[in-house]
Amino acid sequence: MLYESFRSMGVERALKRHASGNIFYSHPGRGKGEKMARLKIARLGNPILRQKAAPVDLNDLKNPENEIRALVQDMVETMHHEGGVGLAAPQVARSLQVAVLEYEENERYPGHGTVPLTVLINPVITRYSEEKQLGWESCLSLSDFRGRVERSLSVTVEAWDLEGNKRVIDAEGFLAVVLQHEIDHLNGLVFIDRMDDLTQLAYEEEFETYWMGEEAVEA
Ligand code: NI
Repeated sequence: MLYESFRSMGVERALKRHASGNIFYSHPGRGKGEKMARLKIARLGNPILRQKAAPVDLNDLKNPENEIRALVQDMVETMHHEGGVGLAAPQVARSLQVAVLEYEENERYPGHGTVPLTVLINPVITRYSEEKQLGWESCLSLSDFRGRVERSLSVTVEAWDLEGNKRVIDAEGFLAVVLQHEIDHLNGLVFIDRMDDLTQLAYEEEFETYWMGEEAVEA
């Protein structure tokens, strides 16, 4: 597509990877020869998307054989396969507070930066900026739709990584949107819940026909 920008492509479908894509995840906690699995995406209407996900017991992370590692591997594999930039565990029908995200610089629209593969366990947004941004979002769980959503321009997120280390992430712009979108999933929310104006909800094809040009001007 000519108009692929992070803003217009939406949150979870921004990256279409080359076959040689940047997949650098190692496979701790899973024996040699065991394959990662692609998981089925839970779509809107599946009640699991509307539940508050259960927190992960951080003590479990200390066990190298813990099931969270295998889940994360499968989520990363699924995110890559689906061309997403983020995926939350409820979207693969696991009601746990786990999310993964990763995206690369897009050469057509530089400036969004690159985020290496990031695993968020029990993430909490501890700061929302008052300044807002408007952007079109999509979601693997509502894959036919785009909607224009207002989000905080910047946020601070506290989370734990797979080793059980606490991380504090200060993010703005696109990354801040991805974080807000994915953490919403862990609280039973999807992007349409954040829309004030449902006239700006569109099917993918109509989005491309009627809205994309306007967005390109803003970009
Ligand atoms: Ni989503």
